[in-house]
Amino acid sequence: MPAVVADVLRSAGERRRRIDPLLPEPGLPADAGCGAELTVPAAPGRGAAVGWCHHYRIEPGAPELAWGAASQFWLAAHVAGDGSEPGIGAGLDELLARWRAHLAAEPATEAEDSQAALRWPSRDIAGVRALLRHGLQPLTVIAARPAGRAVPGAPAPRGLVIRPADPGDIAAVTALTMEVIRFDQHFGSVRLHPHAEQTEWEAAEQTLDRPEPWTWLAERDGRTVGLLMAQPPERAAWIAAATSGQPAAYLATMAVRPDERGSGVGTALVTGLHRELDATGVTVTLLHHAQLNPLSAPFWSRMGYRPLWTTWEIRPARTMR
Ligand SMILES: CC(C)(COP(=O)(O)OP(=O)(O)OC[C@H]1O[C@@H](n2cnc3c(N)ncnc32)[C@H](O)[C@@H]1OP(=O)(O)O)[C@@H](O)C(=O)NCCC(=O)NCCS
Repeated sequence: MPAVVADVLRSAGERRRRIDPLLPEPGLPADAGCGAELTVPAAPGRGAAVGWCHHYRIEPGAPELAWGAASQFWLAAHVAGDGSEPGIGAGLDELLARWRAHLAAEPATEAEDSQAALRWPSRDIAGVRALLRHGLQPLTVIAARPAGRAVPGAPAPRGLVIRPADPGDIAAVTALTMEVIRFDQHFGSVRLHPHAEQTEWEAAEQTLDRPEPWTWLAERDGRTVGLLMAQPPERAAWIAAATSGQPAAYLATMAVRPDERGSGVGTALVTGLHRELDATGVTVTLLHHAQLNPLSAPFWSRMGYRPLWTTWEIRPARTMR
């Protein structure tokens, strides 16, 4: 590893440990990405920075299309610093300027359905102004709940039954998953595609076919009113590296029917899951939520989750400033 890269990662690691112990150690990405040279030397008042750009294309009809653009350009960004906020901001600013120049030469960044995005530690406020200056928007949060964190002890609503879902529940699971997509599409990063219902049906079919689907339904008067889907550590490896807390689980989907919201159904579902996760030795549970979702953002905070990473993005990718 070149010395400048090692120095930046070491310094960024020290900073991460200081500002948020739930962040993982920064490291080299599994591959060099598209190979763009994104290295910023230190200068007076500016920390050195390194970045790797990854290009992805999501296939038409893939379930991931609900949660991101068809052409995605992701930057893994690290800035060295002695803790002085201007130095971090200036290093990130210059790294983003170089990334922007790189993206400007990529024809696919012009496509309407493209995005430039990066995850930045939510508590590293030193980078926020640089991200805003480049036109990036803080649309999504990865929130974390350390095990054992107390949750409100409200009694479960009367007449509410929570039960594990089984293969006969595909329609109910699909309908409530569609409810999340319909609701979240208002907040910038989620899109409702014409094929969404079919894709979600197939995904529900696959999940419910597992011996342990980790999916629960809430019912009242024989009617399904809420859904919670989670992934235990053995299925959450795709996101576990986002935190230092291992093993990590993932809370994938949560929805309550509109006419049943605000009556404690969500709290009852999540409380049941947390009991299970805490008992099975999970250290941290992660989830995504839209920063601007006025129902879920305060709800997750009340359930013991707090921001870990913020995903900043802009669409189309070429419109980055
Ligand atoms: C987020 C969500 C799952 C929460 O479920 P819920 O059953 O409404 O949750 P609860 O009733 O347990 O708690 C909701 C809180 O909002 C309050 N509230 C009051 N009126 C409300 C209303 N009309 N709608 C929603 N919440 C309301 C509740 O009183 C409660 O607050 P409190 O604990 O301070 O009293 C639900 O709002 C929802 O399905 N939203 C749309 C889809 C979504 O955002 N999914 C999450 C994606 S990450």
